[in-house]
Amino acid sequence: MRVVLLLLFILAAKVQAADPHSFSNFALVSHPQLTLDLTADFDKQQLSGFVELQLDWHHPDVRELILDSRDLSIEKVMGQSAEGRWVKLSHRLGEVSSTHGQALRIEFPAQFPKVRIYYHTSPQASGLQWLTKEQTSEKQQPFMYSQSQSIHARSWIPLQDTPAVRLNYQARIHTPKQLLAVMGADNSANTDKDGDYFFRMPQAIPSYLIALAIGDLEFKAMSERTGVYAEKVWLDKAVAEFSDTEQMMQVVSAMYGDYPWGRYDLLILPASFPFGGMENPRLSFITPTVIAGDKSLVSLIAHELAHSWSGNLVTNGSWHELWLNEGFTSYVENRIMEQVYGAERALLERQLSVQDLENDLDQLEPEDTLLVSDYTGRDPDEAFTQVPYIKGMLFLQFLEQRFGRKTFDEFLKNYFQSFAFQSMDTEKFLRFMRKTLLNDPDTVSMGEVLEWIYQPGLASTFVAPVSDAFKQVDLQLASWQKSGQLSDLATKSWSIHHWLHFIGQLAATVDMAQLRQLDQGFALSQSQNAEVAAAWFKVALAKNYSEAQPALEQFLIRVGRRKFVVPLYQQLSQNQQTLSWAKAVYQKARPGYHPLTQSAVDKVLKLN
Ligand code: BES
Ligand code: ZN
Repeated sequence: MRVVLLLLFILAAKVQAADPHSFSNFALVSHPQLTLDLTADFDKQQLSGFVELQLDWHHPDVRELILDSRDLSIEKVMGQSAEGRWVKLSHRLGEVSSTHGQALRIEFPAQFPKVRIYYHTSPQASGLQWLTKEQTSEKQQPFMYSQSQSIHARSWIPLQDTPAVRLNYQARIHTPKQLLAVMGADNSANTDKDGDYFFRMPQAIPSYLIALAIGDLEFKAMSERTGVYAEKVWLDKAVAEFSDTEQMMQVVSAMYGDYPWGRYDLLILPASFPFGGMENPRLSFITPTVIAGDKSLVSLIAHELAHSWSGNLVTNGSWHELWLNEGFTSYVENRIMEQVYGAERALLERQLSVQDLENDLDQLEPEDTLLVSDYTGRDPDEAFTQVPYIKGMLFLQFLEQRFGRKTFDEFLKNYFQSFAFQSMDTEKFLRFMRKTLLNDPDTVSMGEVLEWIYQPGLASTFVAPVSDAFKQVDLQLASWQKSGQLSDLATKSWSIHHWLHFIGQLAATVDMAQLRQLDQGFALSQSQNAEVAAAWFKVALAKNYSEAQPALEQFLIRVGRRKFVVPLYQQLSQNQQTLSWAKAVYQKARPGYHPLTQSAVDKVLKLN
């Protein structure tokens, strides 16, 4: 009878809290508190030490804890009994899955309150990048950092690696002297660099937000509660570029409630960081490729900051629901941009995003263009397309337009407050919306809402953002093509956004000679703005404009941001000549790329 009851309980727990990207049995036993003690060895490129988990058992018959792991060497597992005695526990690692890693199963004689796992990481850990000193900007000291989203925390900590549950943590990190360790936790700006660092994260977070970086870092304050950690060369440049961060915080707080995390600092990473930014709590990780010198790419900071509400406070419960993090965040990001930099800039950025979304929609399978998509059996990093971001943002903008800003802002504020520090799924969001917003089907009907969420492509109620500024650019493009006179392009008054729109139109409209004329006139191959450069290289490759290749080579070696480099290698692999050129460039670039970028490019160039 008991066995049947337990089986029923397990079944119910599974249905209630299923995350197909985690092996863990978090509905039966969970770990609300985690303590890390890790030493960073840069020669071995390895973290070693232990994690201690405080356990909450949710059913009297359960004696097994199942954790997620990937490429970890487990040295031993000790459990502490209720009487305080430490005993060795038996454990085994399950079969290896290339996308999910391995289950770590630990057997208990009784429901112990604590377990301690001694382990070390592999140099290939998917969630860590180890850089030699030559691969850093200052070239004096080595550097390492973690990137745990989506399911890479398990490659450096054995734990329940699912956004369905939350934990608090504390950590002690041992590093070589002279290096500074920082975490997405309570960093204090004037710590001694003594190689022994303590952290505490008092707010409960999902595992994908646990973050660590170690390097030759310095700190500079921007305001009372904001500042920058960076290698010396970047420090002043970053402080100048991101000096509006405090104002951005005030803008969001006024709309959606107080900033819930204490400090908000930025960590500038080496250019091999595979993302633009990562919203680690209290300390966003940021690519240096957005330091353009003119604040033209600071929407990235607005984005990572916005995650402090959408994502970090109210969290997608599984990776199928990424839109609840990224769509809401893209919406809030654009609201911040509007308030800090004006409605015109926000409109241009929206229009550029729609262009990106349309490009993705052309290439994706229809079932991957729903807001909620099924990524079971796949690497959840594949969900990282424009669909959860921009289609999600457009859905919320649709609601805002129909209900009016005031009503919609109140709704969102209420949403963040009602579900603070909880995991969310789309059905729960719909129930909340039905209760607090959708009271008049003439304003918005449930059918209209469901079309946005569960139908492929763009909904029939989508209204495309259109700016006059881009129309002007299109007209100038047409008259230059007719006259051949570069002076027809009024580029003096163009912002980066005009340029990006302009370059986005070229593939369909110009030939190689015209590209050469543009490059000679505006030195686009040499652009120091990474977004402009990447967009330009894309057109250059499409038109076989090979004069851009030396600059492209430099770019591919210097920058490791996946969004830029993976599509460029994809394009290069489409013909034999550029493919062999790409392979030669990649040989030089690969050692500097993050493991995730390496495996993505290996796949594109068919090297594995
Ligand atoms: N949380 C994401 C990064 C991420 C997403 C990592 C999915 C792993 C899996 C971050 O907030 C983000 O969206 N970064 C974007 C920048 C943004 C302005 C669109 C990026 O890195 O390009
Ligand atoms: Zn994001």
